[in-house]
Amino acid sequence: MITLGIESTAHTLGVGIADSEDERIITANVIDMYRPLQGGLHPREAANHHAENVASDIEKALTEAKISINDVDLIAFSMGPGLGPCLKTSATAARALSHRLKIPIMGVNHCIAHIEIGRVLQGCDDPALLYASGGNTQIIAFSEGRYRIFGETEDIGIGNMFDKLGRELGLGFYAGPKIEELAREGKEFLDIPYSVKGMDVSFSGVMTAALALYEKGHRLEDVAMSVQETVFAMLTEVTERAMAHTGKNEVLLGGGVVQNQRLREMVQEMAEARGAEMFVPDRRLCMDNGAMIAWLGHIMYDSGVRMEISETAVRQRFRTDEVEVTWR
Ligand code: ATP
Ligand code: FE2
Repeated sequence: MITLGIESTAHTLGVGIADSEDERIITANVIDMYRPLQGGLHPREAANHHAENVASDIEKALTEAKISINDVDLIAFSMGPGLGPCLKTSATAARALSHRLKIPIMGVNHCIAHIEIGRVLQGCDDPALLYASGGNTQIIAFSEGRYRIFGETEDIGIGNMFDKLGRELGLGFYAGPKIEELAREGKEFLDIPYSVKGMDVSFSGVMTAALALYEKGHRLEDVAMSVQETVFAMLTEVTERAMAHTGKNEVLLGGGVVQNQRLREMVQEMAEARGAEMFVPDRRLCMDNGAMIAWLGHIMYDSGVRMEISETAVRQRFRTDEVEVTWR
């Protein structure tokens, strides 16, 4: 069965193809990122970018998979969570294709797609997912028939925090990699508020404190290192607690922020100390992508889920635990 998946929850438009008969499973994964010329992400501008490019990206994916549109059996798209105008673009494209080709449609939960692609391609079985991206920061694990959120950010996503901080510090948009680079040269550890409440974390205080330290004259490298050490320790702590609570001995990483080597090191160390194993998908499957959407659409369909076009309204606040997991 061949599934075409479309992703557009935020600034990335992705089109991927999953073929359940192919040993690679993923036969195409086109990623097309909208980068604002200045400032942060404007949902409507990102949505315009997605609308302008979705048809040609679908063509590119079909070429990459060496198939024609008529070979596609199912259309999947990210139904949420995400930014309304962005979500609507892939939903509209998916509905049009489903209608035109007379094939079924499947709206899927974006966060769950990050887990399922790791399970099928990384060979982990029942992991806790540390999902750290621009807009999302959650620890998710399977429990009693659903993927449940065991900890999450109370305010902004960790990547958005890096990006906002980067903007204030003049590092440009998409500042995570730049902050990682600076942090490697950090020497003095500065005091940043460690903000863990129960299983939840928050980042806005971290950002305010970091800016104040920089304005006081501390080196950018020291500020970057101290921010990273603090927020990654917060994430590692709640991930460990979620693993202990749920009895999971696998941890899977997902989201753009897990490109960060320091975060990987800290989670790896924690996992090893507990006798657990860490899994990290390839970069293009960690970031937002259409391949994971295609795969989740496929396994949902395969387990008997069916959706009418009238049931495909996008959901900006679609929570993982709203989805009944019929496929495991
Ligand atoms: P989502 O819709 O899932 O929230 P997104 O589109 O906001 O996703 P991703 O593409 O998953 O985000 O990740 C982008 C984020 O990852 C940006 O905030 C970017 O700064 C951050 N990032 C990328 N590389 C690194 C890195 N090496 N260290 C820290 N952060 C990073
Ligand atoms: Fe994501």
